[in-house]
Amino acid sequence: MAIEWGTLGNLWARPVFTAFVRNSRFTREMIDRNPEFTINIPAGEYDRKIFKICGGKSGRDTDKVREAGLTLAPGRKIGVPGILELPVTLECKVIYRQEQDVSLIPDDERKRYYPHNPGRSHDTDEDEHIMYIGEIVDSYILS
Ligand SMILES: Cc1cc2nc3c(=O)[nH]c(=O)nc-3n(C[C@H](O)[C@H](O)[C@H](O)COP(=O)(O)O)c2cc1C
Repeated sequence: MAIEWGTLGNLWARPVFTAFVRNSRFTREMIDRNPEFTINIPAGEYDRKIFKICGGKSGRDTDKVREAGLTLAPGRKIGVPGILELPVTLECKVIYRQEQDVSLIPDDERKRYYPHNPGRSHDTDEDEHIMYIGEIVDSYILS
């Protein structure tokens, strides 16, 4: 999936990428089943349709790799692949997972981003995020 909310940093003396994935995403189900992910970043020009498809359709009912014309490259240290078309690659293993307590989110943001709190709805942009802190176990540029 396309991801916009995330941070790069350091935690417990490890380099980490923290991703925020809504509970309703198919991606969330996959990370919970296999707690690894890759972050795939464009370098230079890239086909805008990649983010339209990856950020607009669900892997539950769409083969996004095929539809977006992506080429997978096997992971080096984890079982999740990288993507040749988005060559800057961070391989991450989840070391911490936390569900948001929506009641603690500032009022304006809660109303804007989680309007139907506390209900959990499927495939919406309204349910809570889960924070996944992934230790970056490898990083490279695919070519
Ligand atoms: C540019 C862009 C950034 C996005 N960032 C996030 C994000 O940070 N977290 C999130 O849960 N969804 C985000 N989304 C929405 C998901 O990418 C979208 O719901 C996707 O279809 C989920 O696919 P899945 O069901 O296969 O996991 C973003 C969408 C776009 C277009």
